[in-house]
Amino acid sequence: MPSPPELLRLLLALVLVTAGNAAAAVELPEFREAPAFRNGRGCGGAAAPTIHIAMTLDATYLRGSLAGVHSVLQHASCPENVVFHFLATAPRRLRRAVVAAFPGLPFHIYRFDAALVRGKISTSVRRALDQPLNYARIYLADLLPRTVRRVIYFDSDLVVVDDVARLWAIDLGPHVLGAPEYCHANFTSYFTDRFWSDPSYPLTFFGRRRHPCYFNTGVMVMDLERWRAGDYTKKLESWMEIQKKEARIYELGSLPPFLLVFAGEVKGVEHRWNQHGLGGDNVEGLCRDLHPGPVSLLHWSGKGKPWLRLDARRSCPLDSLWAPYDLLRRKGRDLLAEG
Ligand SMILES: *[C@@H]1O[C@H](CO)[C@@H](O)[C@H](O)[C@H]1NC(C)=O
Repeated sequence: MPSPPELLRLLLALVLVTAGNAAAAVELPEFREAPAFRNGRGCGGAAAPTIHIAMTLDATYLRGSLAGVHSVLQHASCPENVVFHFLATAPRRLRRAVVAAFPGLPFHIYRFDAALVRGKISTSVRRALDQPLNYARIYLADLLPRTVRRVIYFDSDLVVVDDVARLWAIDLGPHVLGAPEYCHANFTSYFTDRFWSDPSYPLTFFGRRRHPCYFNTGVMVMDLERWRAGDYTKKLESWMEIQKKEARIYELGSLPPFLLVFAGEVKGVEHRWNQHGLGGDNVEGLCRDLHPGPVSLLHWSGKGKPWLRLDARRSCPLDSLWAPYDLLRRKGRDLLAEG
């Protein structure tokens, strides 16, 4: 029999071990299987190309990522032509979750090495923006096979409510990136006074095809061939290095480097493809309304996430549009609590 102080020590050790494991690997929730989505007529041949979609997968946003995939498949006229490319720092257990939810889905998972960016990330106004995986989109051209020449990148906090083939088909012209642009947003405010007062930094926007405007990096059509040819990963990294080592030139995470390299050089996409900001602002996460106009994609960018607000029973009105795509398997006690 251990004596009482010994027992206390054992208990404490047990608590510490449990806490340690929790930090190392957040337990993944369980997901139910989505229905199988089948191609309609006319999905063969050149008229219906393979559509490549890239997303990140991690324990925190897994529920959002799977809902996003679900929404794409549900609204695609040729769902079997969609191939997903997932980036993850811990691919193995996330692969199991994807297979559980979508047993027949064609997909690939690539290991994203967080060490690639760790030394290049400076802290931002919101900690979630500092996660290495947030920067994975910068490395898509390296991680995906060369045979993938175009990819749509989607954040993990959005749902698509239209046929993704329409977005896939946009003509990028000579551009590397396509994304909805927001020229009324105050572009100046994405960079610090230190940036604008520097004799050389602002010159980067000189000679761009068009006036530089804000765009959201959560929805992008990317020409990976042009990206590779122009070595854009290096261009983005060099701004991250300036931010980290030379001067604080912006406050947000992975977005400003994209603006620095691409603003004014983006192929504008209809705004319907990124109704962003539904998560609310970065500080308080207040409820937001849709922007005027048609909607093909709802994006809960900002602090609030629909699954967290729904679970906490503090949802915003538009969160109910996310709920139908949720694949979380409800535990018995949740059902009892709801009943
Ligand atoms: C845009 O933002 C900058 C810096 O945050 C500010 O100084 C400027 O007044 C703003 N301009 C407008 C038109 O709101």
